[in-house]
Amino acid sequence: ADSLDEDCDYLFKAVLTGDSGVGKSNLLSRFSKNEFRFDSRPTIGVEFAYRNIKVADKLVKTQIWDTAGQERFRAITSSYYRGALGALLVYDITRVATFDNIKKWLRELREFGNPEMVIILVGNKCDLHQSREVQEEEARHLAELENLFFMETSAKDNLNVEEAFLEMVRRIH
Ligand code: GTP
Ligand code: MG
Repeated sequence: ADSLDEDCDYLFKAVLTGDSGVGKSNLLSRFSKNEFRFDSRPTIGVEFAYRNIKVADKLVKTQIWDTAGQERFRAITSSYYRGALGALLVYDITRVATFDNIKKWLRELREFGNPEMVIILVGNKCDLHQSREVQEEEARHLAELENLFFMETSAKDNLNVEEAFLEMVRRIH
């Protein structure tokens, strides 16, 4: 049902970025296949998935590139930012180091990507609230400073995943 020849009105390219292990691949598999894996492997380089979305009567085909968070892939992954109109910039609410790195990822997105790119800041793993290290307020504050939209998600419990992707597409649109 997801082939390129379906007559869609728009084609958007978007990227998922952020530290390794924050849950980018699981957010994408939740969004594209409604699947979650406890034992997922770190992404090697980049992978992608498509999903068609209806926005205000238009069919938008969204091509989402899931990039590897591991440092050794940095040169490859940043080359995929070119042409992307949207990004989900993901950290893990239970690991403050992944939030501290957001500024670094943001610099890369802005350096290698489209300056008009719509960026959604995503705090994933909100199901693990007992291990929380990043307060929602702190993230909301950063998002305001950097002019990003902000949302907490859980790929595991399927919380706000659809909303985060749809918000990105709506804002591009
Ligand atoms: P790289 O590909 O290395 O950049 O990592 P990634 O960001 O794609 O992380 P991935 O989706 O592979 O998830 C890493 C681990 O976190 C896996 O064990 C997942 O099961 C787990 N995980 C992902 N999302 C969630 C979530 O919302 N809640 C919980 N509890 N675990 C999650
Ligand atoms: Mg991955």
